[in-house]
Amino acid sequence: MSQAPAQRTPLVLVSNRGPVTFHAGGEVQRGSGGLVTALTGLASHRRALWIASAMNEWDAEVSLANNGRSFPVRSPAGGEYQVRLVVSDPEAYDHFYNVFANPMLWFIQHYLWDLSNAPDIRRSEVDAFEHGYNAVNEDLARAVVEELEDAEEPVVMVHDYHLYTLPNLVRRARPDVFLHHFIHIPWTQSDAWRVLPTGIRSEIFNGLLANDIIGFHTRSYRRNFLQCCRDLMDLEVDFDRGVVHCGEREIWVRAYPLPIDHRATRMIAQSSRVNEFELDLLQRRRDFLILRVDRADLSKNILRGFSAFDLFLEQHPEFSERITFVAQLMPSRTDVPQYAEYLERIEALVAVVNHRHGTPDWMPIQLKLRDDLEEAIAAYKHYDVLLVNAMFDGMNLVAKEGPLVNEREGVSILSENTGAHEELGEYALSVNPFDIQELADSIYAALTMDPAERRRRAEGLVEIVTSRDPGDWIDEQLADIKAKGLSQ
Ligand code: G6P
Repeated sequence: MSQAPAQRTPLVLVSNRGPVTFHAGGEVQRGSGGLVTALTGLASHRRALWIASAMNEWDAEVSLANNGRSFPVRSPAGGEYQVRLVVSDPEAYDHFYNVFANPMLWFIQHYLWDLSNAPDIRRSEVDAFEHGYNAVNEDLARAVVEELEDAEEPVVMVHDYHLYTLPNLVRRARPDVFLHHFIHIPWTQSDAWRVLPTGIRSEIFNGLLANDIIGFHTRSYRRNFLQCCRDLMDLEVDFDRGVVHCGEREIWVRAYPLPIDHRATRMIAQSSRVNEFELDLLQRRRDFLILRVDRADLSKNILRGFSAFDLFLEQHPEFSERITFVAQLMPSRTDVPQYAEYLERIEALVAVVNHRHGTPDWMPIQLKLRDDLEEAIAAYKHYDVLLVNAMFDGMNLVAKEGPLVNEREGVSILSENTGAHEELGEYALSVNPFDIQELADSIYAALTMDPAERRRRAEGLVEIVTSRDPGDWIDEQLADIKAKGLSQ
């Protein structure tokens, strides 16, 4: 990896979730989510300080024991980090996470609002922004500014939709800071943002525009962001150069598609725990296996996936008792009512499809509601069809991990609205995630595909997935930080 621009000072990373969380008795667990996976390399290979929110009472205890300052910690997933965990008022954090970041921003950024019904913006939503979202952003910003106290030419890398107002707070305290913000989820078109009251919307954009560089996974999110700056903030933008002109300042807007750590994923695929899961899976296996691995999130379009399978079984009875659909879904954000309800609807639909098509000897859909990476990787190795049909998805790393370790030249069915589709679409069966018949047809096409064509596609996917790794992703961003730093 290349040199960070300011090695005299540590690089500061700031995100909602950190690389580790603590549990009873001091047990340390790796933080969850794609963001943690992406940043692990950066934080463990460089002199970086990672500032994140305390996720539970044990994180808060550890933070207190360190007087709120940073401390070193070794992650069970490997790597040593310098971490600072920031404790916010629990009520403020609840409003930040469960009301404003999820669902408000998440729904806007995945086109999930059913606008004739929701959202209703009342005083409580505005309060959740002012005293929840902003309060947590202020807590983290304060920690960043404190850590930068003696730093020269500091560089701060901010992550994701939880922290849109933080950059402006840091900029005001430290005008000399270089701020880089990577957004891991889609950026939607301007009208989707009109759901927010003008004042909140402006605060969000002004927060973000305090950055020097803003990064996205795809060119299409980058274009949408630039268009928003023009439509909603009346700013001059240059689409070709990816620049927003904001007074005297220029903000660069860039696309950096996130790769997976293919070496690490292949290593895990060889572990003994994965092998144990494989044995179990192979014992139960029918002729064909369809797999999906997702957080149980509305954006993942899990219900339409099961409806398509239902339709497929109805239209192709010759596959009865010969195929299993394994769905490994991690319950997520269950304190948000829409998510809890979604999980109930998933379980109900699985029961209906299993009842409709199942036999005493065969359960068509096997639902596994748990987060277990090794179990997922064992299933990746043996699927015939990988289903990634998200309605909208920032990147989707499953679409990259699956083909990497799959041993059956399995076919990927991939929604055209995932970030991964910009890179992998050519070798996948592309689907419109709303078209259930097309999805059912794609399942059939995948299962009956000529072996040579399957091989061609599987090899194409592996080649793309192994062509870059997270180190390259970080280097591309650091190179831009350096180039922009020199130009200003
Ligand atoms: C998305 C976000 C990540 C987040 C992940 C899991 O991928 O971009 O920032 O970590 O979802 O969501 P959670 O709410 O569990 O952090």
